[in-house]
Amino acid sequence: MPYTDPIRDSRPADRRGKRTATHRRFLMCPPRHFEVSYSINPWMDPKKPVDGGLAFAQWEQLRDLYRELGHTVETIEPIPGLPDMVFAANGATVVDGRVFGARFRHAERTAEGPAYLSWFVEQGYREVHWPEHINEGEGDYLVVGRRLLAGTGFRTDPRSHAEAQEFFGLPVTGLTLVNPDFYHLDTALAVLSDDEVMYYPDAFSAGSQSVLREMFPNAILAAAEDAAVFGLNALSDGKHVVLPEAATGLIEQLRSRGFEAIGVELAELLKAGGSVKCCTLELRGR
Ligand code: ARG
Repeated sequence: MPYTDPIRDSRPADRRGKRTATHRRFLMCPPRHFEVSYSINPWMDPKKPVDGGLAFAQWEQLRDLYRELGHTVETIEPIPGLPDMVFAANGATVVDGRVFGARFRHAERTAEGPAYLSWFVEQGYREVHWPEHINEGEGDYLVVGRRLLAGTGFRTDPRSHAEAQEFFGLPVTGLTLVNPDFYHLDTALAVLSDDEVMYYPDAFSAGSQSVLREMFPNAILAAAEDAAVFGLNALSDGKHVVLPEAATGLIEQLRSRGFEAIGVELAELLKAGGSVKCCTLELRGR
């Protein structure tokens, strides 16, 4: 079973079917060269064995699930020697067909920035920006309606936030991450709709927690256990929320808000500190 049965719906009849999915286009990178050969976050232990075949099969289940949900999945060719390239979310941030390239903090991943940017150029994207400051794409930039939330603290340079705001012409709100287990914004916060998010408060500085309360007073708050299994590394199409199946508390909370939560198993990729959202770069057109 690749995912939990979405038919078992415990919501009262009047709360079913209120959510609508919108068609999405995603870019994904098959983990053909996936391994954990270095450590740049607390999840990565190069001494721990990784089953490459299993990682690939789990990734394929995620790709197939997106297609079953009616979404379009494009793929980029993985490059040998870049094992983290599977985490396509880090490759860029794309809004209104405009591509804000990624510039990685660690030497082990720097070659991924130009690799992803070249894909966009080859595909005919014309507004492509090579960034001045370090930023790790949708790892730290999340789009909520017509604004962006932007993480900093571990990877993305806070100066990138102004650069992104200028490039997209959309408001960018900076948020500071303080717990190294949640080193990218998309490990601590997930966008559910144009005005709803779920997040793990303890991953953020006190000031950023207060900003989040101000912006999203009705947000779903994740418990430590759900955050620890990467439950916030989730992808929503407005109706279906795909997330790690171990995040049982979040799955319950999502269902009570009328979402169809679909749990998936990506345990091999979690050994590199990534899950559902990390594998998925959304291609937002005009
Ligand atoms: N090993 C990768 C890193 O530490 C994992 C990236 C996860 N991607 C993400 N969007 N959070 O950079």
